[in-house]
Amino acid sequence: MTENYPETGSDGIATGPVWVNGQPAEAVSAWDRGFLYGDSFFTTIRIVGGQPAFWPLHRLRLISNATRLRFPWPDLEAMELELAEFISSAPDPDGVVRLTISRGPGPRGYLPLKDPQVTRVLAWSPQPDYAPELSETGVDLVLCKTQVSCNPLLAGIKHGNRLAQVFAHQELESLGAFEGLMGDGDVIVGGCRSNVFAKIAGTWYTPRLERAGVAGVTRSWLMQYASIREVDLTFADFEHATSAVITSALLGLMPVRSIEGRELELCEEIPGWQHQYRKDAGL
Ligand SMILES: Cc1ncc(COP(=O)(O)O)c(C=O)c1O
Repeated sequence: MTENYPETGSDGIATGPVWVNGQPAEAVSAWDRGFLYGDSFFTTIRIVGGQPAFWPLHRLRLISNATRLRFPWPDLEAMELELAEFISSAPDPDGVVRLTISRGPGPRGYLPLKDPQVTRVLAWSPQPDYAPELSETGVDLVLCKTQVSCNPLLAGIKHGNRLAQVFAHQELESLGAFEGLMGDGDVIVGGCRSNVFAKIAGTWYTPRLERAGVAGVTRSWLMQYASIREVDLTFADFEHATSAVITSALLGLMPVRSIEGRELELCEEIPGWQHQYRKDAGL
């Protein structure tokens, strides 16, 4: 964690600086559709030495999410300038920025304005202090009882409707588990806050994201770097996995030590992937 900068205040609420539409502020309108309906999308960016790691991948996802949710086309140049200014004003050159874009305020009711004024929020936090040895020893996964929300129209988008993950994370907390697999019936979609990859009979697989799930930037990075097949994977398939990895912008590439108590191997590819990932992230 960033020295001298706590993740939260004594009330448990994040304290990092926040800009709303380019100005230091914490509040958005009570009529903001992000607040009212989760009519928003976001990306969580790791900041390394004052630079947004994997920005081209975040940028691509922002464009894709805006297009699929029928938001106005984002002014990416202005957004990049604003992000750079925000990062340089942050308490530390290393940390995390959550960039949220909502459809902004509108009238009461679901129907959005034809020409909405989107709300942009930049919020800074220190990088969470995961024990460094976890990226070598691996983490333990459980199978969450909470199911993902399934909707092909929203699958892959990092949209603001995250209630299934809110439930799942509470489930993990009550079990003292680091991360859990979430699915739709028997089909596994991903981790509660990560994407998942499994090595089965010598081949690496990751769940397809046709019906649910988030198209993670770290998932995209790994799929460009390594040979991985996208398929439907059931929990029974995971029982044949010999190795597995979870990924996110904040976790990076974390090997899985066990799934539901069954131990996995740390196979030889993983340290090589982690090495390249850290290099590309500027870590
Ligand atoms: C549900 C879910 N899936 C996957 C991811 C990983 O996405 P990324 O690699 O963009 O951090 C996250 C990250 O928060 C997530 O919340």
